[in-house]
Amino acid sequence: MNNPFVITGHIPDKYFCDRREETARVVRELSNNGNLCLISPRRMGKSKLVHHCYNHPEFAGRYYTFYVDILHTSGLREFTYIFGQQIFETLHTTNRKMLVAFVQGLKSINAKFGFDALTNMPTFSLELGDISRPEFTLTEIFRCLEQADKPCIVTFDEFQQITKYPEKNIEALLRAHIQNLSNVHFVFAGSERHLVTEMFLSSARPFYNSTSIMELHPIAPAEYIPFVCHCFKEYERSIHEVEVQKIYTLFEGNTYYMQKTFHEAFINTPIGEVCTSDIVRQTIDEILEEAGDGYRQLLSRIPERQKELLYAIAIEEKAQKLMSAGFIRQHSLASSSAVQAAVRKLMELDLLIVEDSVYYIPDILFRMYLQRLRNKDVTFVR
Ligand SMILES: Nc1ncnc2c1ncn2[C@@H]1O[C@H](COP(=O)(O)OP(=O)(O)OP(=O)(O)O)[C@@H](O)[C@H]1O
Ligand SMILES: [Mg+2]
Repeated sequence: MNNPFVITGHIPDKYFCDRREETARVVRELSNNGNLCLISPRRMGKSKLVHHCYNHPEFAGRYYTFYVDILHTSGLREFTYIFGQQIFETLHTTNRKMLVAFVQGLKSINAKFGFDALTNMPTFSLELGDISRPEFTLTEIFRCLEQADKPCIVTFDEFQQITKYPEKNIEALLRAHIQNLSNVHFVFAGSERHLVTEMFLSSARPFYNSTSIMELHPIAPAEYIPFVCHCFKEYERSIHEVEVQKIYTLFEGNTYYMQKTFHEAFINTPIGEVCTSDIVRQTIDEILEEAGDGYRQLLSRIPERQKELLYAIAIEEKAQKLMSAGFIRQHSLASSSAVQAAVRKLMELDLLIVEDSVYYIPDILFRMYLQRLRNKDVTFVR
């Protein structure tokens, strides 16, 4: 390990910051036969928390743990495919006996699995099109897990995606399965708050009251700041708490952007030296530069009226009363109906969020990028 700020792949416990209470709660809920819904804004650390919990002594080796990211799926068939594939791949590296039971249990498709002549292990040679009756296959998958020789935990990450499937009955279908399982416990993780809370908190929806809900907040500064200082120190470098606090404030505690900044700032700090505010500032410039290509592409696809509104909101940071004459005049926008239409579009694209009548751009780096384009350099001046 040559950089203690891990931004891709597995995070060793040593470099996993805090989340002690959250871990304890996840472990408690799941080991008491409950299910859990985990919500947070993007890149706060949901997925890493789940993996961290899977390695907890309560679960490691004693449970089968599966992690299924369904963000890119667009219907029940693909959901079933990805779910089956993930279970297959996990068991392939962990438990041969259970793998064979799993393949045999999937009667509707097991003729389609391949076989490795050398190792005598099943191979996953299924195509999406092989799943002709996804509801049936899904029932078989759940049945296999229910009959496993150890309890199972399944995480569906980006679970809000199922609300976008064309099939209308998916929530009810999954809910019916989940209700009947006693050997399988679930984590439903999601980042689109309005979709997830609707799904779990609206009494008209199948998942209403079916799980406890846990919101993942930023890691507290009292935990994060000493963590960063300690990581630098361990590698014979140092950074002052004040610098860490500035980054914490700048990114509002967003785990990914903070870790990304310190990952790069660490590289920019020679051994034996101090990571100064100049180094941090230069690091942020580099990160913005690097993200710039993607943001430019994104902006090139957004019509002018929506873009004007994005700039206006970026400059205000947290904006209210977007349709008011004052806001429209101040930012030279077209009209309140144009603003209304632009708001709707930008929210659909997840580029804009409203909470308690306050509008903001959730991707903080994108917000900073827009501010810079409008010559408002906010880095560090606060
Ligand atoms: N406790 C932690 N300690 C150190 N780094 C962390 C911690 N939690 C998350 N990270 C880092 O923050 C980043 C985002 O984490 P993760 O992918 O788990 O977020 P997420 O909430 O699942 O995001 P998304 O909404 O995009 O799926 C990762 O790069 C990860 O390395
Ligand atoms: Mg995630």
